[in-house]
Parts: sequence; structure tokens; C-alpha cells
Amino acid sequence: MPEDDIGLEARLDEQESFEPPAAFVEQANVSEEIHEAFEQNWPAEWERAANLLSWNSEWDQVLDDDNEPFYEWFVGGELNASHNCLDRHLDDRGDEVAIEWIGEDDDRRSYTYSELHEEVNAVAAALRELGVEADDVVTLYLPMIPELPVAMLACARLGAPHSVVFAGFSANALAERMDAADSGTLVTCDGYYRRGDPLDHLQKAREGLASVDGDVTTVVVDRLGEDAPSEVGAEHVFGDLRDRHAGATVEPVSRDAEDMLFLMYTSGTTGKPKGVKHTTGGYLSYVAWTSHAVLDIKPEDTYWCAADIGWITGHSYIVYGPLALGTTTVMYEGTPDYPHKGRLWELVEEYGVTQLYTAPTAIRSFMKWGAEYPAEYDRSSLRLLGTVGEPINPRAWKWYYKHIGDESCPVVDTWWQTETGGMMITTLPGVDRMKPGSAGPPLPGVSADVVDSRGHPVEAGQAGHLVVNRPWPGMLRTLYQNDERFLDEYWQTYSNPDRDEWVYFPEDGAKLDDDGYLTILGRVDDVINVSGHRIGTMEVESAIVGVEGVAEAAVVGGEHDITGEAVYAYVITADGQPETESFREAIVEAVETDIGPFARPSAVVFTPELPKTRSGKIMRRLLEDIANGDELGNTSTLRNPDVVHDIETAVGEE
Ligand code: PRX
Repeated sequence: MPEDDIGLEARLDEQESFEPPAAFVEQANVSEEIHEAFEQNWPAEWERAANLLSWNSEWDQVLDDDNEPFYEWFVGGELNASHNCLDRHLDDRGDEVAIEWIGEDDDRRSYTYSELHEEVNAVAAALRELGVEADDVVTLYLPMIPELPVAMLACARLGAPHSVVFAGFSANALAERMDAADSGTLVTCDGYYRRGDPLDHLQKAREGLASVDGDVTTVVVDRLGEDAPSEVGAEHVFGDLRDRHAGATVEPVSRDAEDMLFLMYTSGTTGKPKGVKHTTGGYLSYVAWTSHAVLDIKPEDTYWCAADIGWITGHSYIVYGPLALGTTTVMYEGTPDYPHKGRLWELVEEYGVTQLYTAPTAIRSFMKWGAEYPAEYDRSSLRLLGTVGEPINPRAWKWYYKHIGDESCPVVDTWWQTETGGMMITTLPGVDRMKPGSAGPPLPGVSADVVDSRGHPVEAGQAGHLVVNRPWPGMLRTLYQNDERFLDEYWQTYSNPDRDEWVYFPEDGAKLDDDGYLTILGRVDDVINVSGHRIGTMEVESAIVGVEGVAEAAVVGGEHDITGEAVYAYVITADGQPETESFREAIVEAVETDIGPFARPSAVVFTPELPKTRSGKIMRRLLEDIANGDELGNTSTLRNPDVVHDIETAVGEE
């Protein structure tokens, strides 16, 4: 397939649909009656989700909505997440594999449930000895190595919420998140591999720590094996601590359903990253339920979610959901084309992977590389395919269905967010017809709609704002120590408190079809989605304007064939600052330093002015059109219409 044939534009007009494959339907975890059951008996039916877990004490109330939108779920219930992901499986599945880990250097490790239980207990004992107690936030700045889920579950065992910071984030980003969470404990590592090269991670962590307020106890995992880290100052070596506590047992701390399980920082339109708070009972029930109903996970499966645990997808669908259900979860450290472009399919064959859950960006890369790579391997173990993180264009959907699933695996296109905790909009794999490019109906029990700017539902086929108008167990409870921002960001736009109507606004555009299927049109705020990574334009802009010689900057997302969107930075230089290549590099470096390499601008365009309305607002849509080479809309409301031509020329020269 030619490279330029992977466009996103076909997305809106696709009508085709596919039946769930019959062989899948026969064995599916949920059937048709589930939609009706939730409609008849909402919210009580959510007990189905909670009943997938073991509780120390049963809840007295499914949903408490007295203080909307501060909803509480499974009120009065008590449980421990680590117990649910480990201890309760020991009798039946102690010798079955919990985690299959494949390192980038082809190092392999398998942990049975018993072994993982032992590791987690030892690490929990070590953290406790270092002073970690229930409710202390522990920051985990680790790449895709088994010590990451081990540390997460050790924290959960102690009732200490974790805050995982994606390893690709910079030192500054780490420090900002640690300070925001008042976190006094950090678990990190010496380094890790990318495409065969070792990266120095500890250096970044130490740099970040240097600017964190207060004392931090640091634990360092020895990943690289060479020049093992030594105990420096407040730094402890993970392996030594674990060995010292080998054989320890730590009683899982019983947590209230509403107690925080973890914090996850994510980007929004304005200001600093938001600390999304997820709970023990509601979140864990929700991810177990969606893993069961949507990913069709059964204990005997070998399930692979090819995301990074540093983002919400990995939390919910590499760690908590699959382990709560007692299945085998595959954890892959590397990239899909290293050491060769057939790597994923080689591993699917070798491990007999039954479900694969990945992002449209990856699928578009597979398409570009060609169907001959997957064709070389036996993929007949696959039963279900999933996608998440960004809109999938119908062409990529069909390619995935055909060339990876051999037209015998349902594809679930799952829409959700860090804030929602788990999947919200998707077809059920053994129940609903699939329409390429359309995520599907809301999950049973979830209610979503598409509205205009006044909150009125728009007609089928019309684009509008996606809203969610019922609470769900996996929802964020608040933004860490910032209830006000929680209300402002998510509830204020479309709720009507006087009439007791509370509506959650995820800041995505969507359209609904006559069958109630939702096609997601992407973010409507100033958030860019690059390869499924959520990047706040404000954060990138603030990194750029921090560079000496920059007067002003505007950052927008332009379309990109593979990554969905790419970061475009328009920069006005200060008087006397030459617009040189090295200055451009300094700008890119500033973004890498402040946020991380994944947020680097793919284009830095110098411009004498930015297009502004008469009231001085930057016309971002226009900048997006210019980045995409689209025809420009009306520019007559601009204070400075002439600038548009100059910018177009500058982009053309890029
Ligand atoms: O714009 C939507 C897009 O990803 C955003 C959420 O990003 P994040 O919180 O990082 O979580 C990503 C993984 C759940 C959403 O607001 N998004 C996510 N899934 C889809 C999607 N857009 C279209 N289709 C999807 N299936």
C-alpha cells in the first residue's frame, strides 16, 4: 500500500459494518442481554463489576450521589487491590504465569502468581521499612521493567497511592509531579534500553530530585547490570532491599472502597498537569469488568496490551484489569520494529497471544511496513484485537482486521481517558456489529450523547461535543487537592446544578449515527494527541517562551499520517535574535528538557506575528489549517490578516 494512502480523511463517511465472528460469539464472556440488564437496573447492575473482586467487607450502597458530582461507589466496602491481583489467585493459579516479560535486549522473565506475590511482599516490606505508610504518595519513575508492576502492587498492598511518571518524561516534569503530589519516596532505575542503546535514567532522576522540595527517599533498580548503582546518600538499591526482605509477608492493608489507589498526572488546556485521583473499589471493579466484558479475558489467556505502564492504558489494562482476573499479561519493553519489523508477530506466535490491544499509530506503522511481516508468523492463537488512544481511520481498522486478525477476530475500538479509568465507548466483541472508524455505543450502564454549545443534543450525523451524563464506577473522583479545578474542568460546561443535572465533559468532539454509534472526532481543547500521547499545548508553549530570544509562541497539532497529530510550534523571536537553525534546535531542546522527547515539535516555524482576533486572541484553528496545508477559512475577523500569507510561506519553506 502506498505510504500516502493512509489518510485520516475517510473517517467520517464510512458506512460498512461487520458481524462479530460466530466462533467468538460462542465463547464470549458477555452476551446480548447485558445491554438490557443495565438499562433495567441501573446503577445496581454495577454490582456485576464489584462482584468480580474479593471484598473484606461488602458495600452497603452501590452509588452515593448525595454530593454531586463527587460521587462515591460501593460505599462502605473494603478491599485491597494487591490482594485482589495476587493472593486470591494463589490457591487455583499460583503456578500459572502472571507476567511474561520480554526485555528489549531479549532478556526474558516469567513470574507465576506465587512468584509475583513473593516479590510484591518483599518490596512492600522494604518500602515499609523505609517509612512508607498508608496514604503516602510514592512516585514510580520506571520504564517497562517488571519492577514497575511489582512496585505498584507493593504500594497498593500498603495502601500507599502510587504516582507513576512515564519514563520518557524529563527531570523537570518528574520534579513538578513529585512536588504536586507531596511525594517523599521515589523508585527509579539506573537505565534502560532503546533500540539497543542503554539510556541513563538515573541521571535524569537525580537532576529532577535536585529541585524537589523536601527530603526524598530514593530506591534505584539495577536494570543495566553494569556498574550497578551503589548506595549513595539517600539512594537505596532495589535488589538489595528485596533480597533483605525475601520471604517476608505483609498483610494487605484493608482499604475503604473510596480510598485512593493511585494518582496519575495528565495534561489539560491550561496550567499545570492535573493529578487525576482513582479509587480502590470503583476503579478496580471497573477495570476488571471492562477487561472481562470488552477484552474477553479469561484466566487461561495470554493477553498482550502493547502500551506503556507509564500511561493510564498500561495501569488499567496491563496491570490491574488482567491481574485482577488472574490471567497472563505480557509486558514488552521494546519498540515494535526492533530488532526487526516482524517482532510483534514473532512474539504472538511464540507466546500464543490470545488478545492484542494497541494504538492506531502502531497499526498505521504496521500498514506502512507491509502485510508480509505478520504473514510470516502463525497468529492463529489471536482471538480479539483492540485499539485505544486516538481515532482509528477505517482503512487502518480494516487492515488490522484483515492482516492481523485474519477476519476472524473482533476489533474493539475503545474510547476512554485517564480520567475515566477504563473503557467507556466500544462495541462489545461478541455482541455488537462493528463499524470501522466508529468506536461504537457507550458501554452498558454508561450514558453518552453529542451536544451543541448550549448542551442540546444534536441530530444524528452532526458533529458536536461528547458528554457523559451518568456517573460510572471507574470515574476520577477529583483532581488531587483541587476540587475546584475538578469542577471547572469537567463539570461546569454542561451541568445545570439548579436542576440537579450533572454532565461530564471529556473535551472530545464526536458524532452519533442512527444506531447510536459514536465516532470520536478528537480533542476540542488545546490538547494534542501524538501517537496516543496526550500533550498540553500550553505546557509546550511555556517551555518555548522560557528560551531566551523567544518573544511569543503558539503551539498547535497538525495532521500526521502515522502519529495522528504532530506538534507545530510558531515562534516570534525577540528583537535582535537571529532565526538560525541552532536557535531552532535550542527551542526543540527546551521542550525535551521541560517535558520529554515525545513532545518535541516536528516543526518550528519562525513568524513575525501570530494571527490574532481584534480582542488579541490567537486564532489557533487558522494555525492548524496552515500546518495541514488546508484551505483557510474566513480571515476577515483578524486584526492582522496579512500575516497569514507570511506564515504559509514560512511553513512551505520548512
Ligand atoms: O481524545 C481522546 C483520545 O485520547 C484522549 C485521552 O487521552 P489519555 O487520557 O491519555 O488516555 C488515552 C488512553 C485511554 C481522549 O480524550 N482517545 C482515546 N481513545 C480513543 C480516543 N480517540 C478516539 N478513539 C479512541 N478509541
